[in-house]
Amino acid sequence: MNGLNTGGGAISGNPGDQFPHQPVLYHEVLDALAPVSGSDYLDGTLGAGGHAEGILQASAPRGRLLGLDLDLEALAIARQRLFAYQDRVILRHASYRDAPEILQEIGWQHFHGILLDLGVSSMQIDRPGRGFSFSEKGPLDMRFDQDSGLAAADLVNTLSEEALAKILQDYGEERFAKRIARAIIAAKPIQTTQALAEVVKKAVPFYSSNIHPATRTFQALRIATNKELETLAAALPALLMCLAPTGRIAVISFHSLEDRIVKRFFKTESRDCICPPEQPTCTCGHSASLKILTKKPVRPGIQEIQDNPRARSARLRVAEKILKKA
Ligand SMILES: C[S@@+](CC[C@H](N)C(=O)[O-])C[C@H]1O[C@@H](n2cnc3c(N)ncnc32)[C@H](O)[C@@H]1O
Repeated sequence: MNGLNTGGGAISGNPGDQFPHQPVLYHEVLDALAPVSGSDYLDGTLGAGGHAEGILQASAPRGRLLGLDLDLEALAIARQRLFAYQDRVILRHASYRDAPEILQEIGWQHFHGILLDLGVSSMQIDRPGRGFSFSEKGPLDMRFDQDSGLAAADLVNTLSEEALAKILQDYGEERFAKRIARAIIAAKPIQTTQALAEVVKKAVPFYSSNIHPATRTFQALRIATNKELETLAAALPALLMCLAPTGRIAVISFHSLEDRIVKRFFKTESRDCICPPEQPTCTCGHSASLKILTKKPVRPGIQEIQDNPRARSARLRVAEKILKKA
């Protein structure tokens, strides 16, 4: 795995349209991570490898990248895309939560840059067999990792009405959570995306014409199926430990629930004291380890949203690990 320049060249324009997922905030991510040769990077949510390819190009000739994804189909696409850089890349079928153990196993010291581009890819949404979309009929699956865990159908068909309503409320911020949960219980077993979308549509008293009434239900079930928020909250402190001093972490989120977790984590880790404000003296012993580089999240511009409407809700937050004095 020692660095040979097997790919590279300058970064220009937007990355390959021939791939089934257009990387969001591509230039902003590369500006944020500012990759350089001789440094090591983690792309914890590899997808089709668009951001990863940019990082490898920018860090030629000796930058290395560890790419992780829970989705075997995504890994296969990324492996093909990154073939030219194979001497500088390690790809693994794993959660970004497991990055600290993988870092040890591959013998790298730390990462100089970490990227998480959270959520679902266009490949996943567009493939009816994955069960993420209500636009076409497919099995109610929604797992990023089809090799493990319970599918969305298992949740829908086994959870109590109360538990379902809580998921819809907490993860979908769905105002009709109770009604929808009641309708799901009455209609179960529900095995397909379209059957669920129909149940939701009938359960809600009214809905806006430009957002499908099942949008929030699908978001909530996807988050619950993949334990997305728990994973993010548990992974951030562990990833911070793997970040080199002056290394940067960039996180793209697509809804306020995950963005809130990132924002709070960055805020806490950028403070020297995290004692309650009413406490007269500090007893926490906490010290800041991050400097926030994005006071407000970076959003895609109008052009990017026009070119790729799925980018519209993306928010990028970036922080840099503080170089502590000895
Ligand atoms: C928005 S896509 C990433 C797209 C990628 N940046 C690109 O340029 O193509 C998100 C990816 O993260 C993966 N993913 C979601 N949760 C994950 C986790 N906990 N660990 C690893 N991969 C995860 C999904 O399977 C999906 O492929």
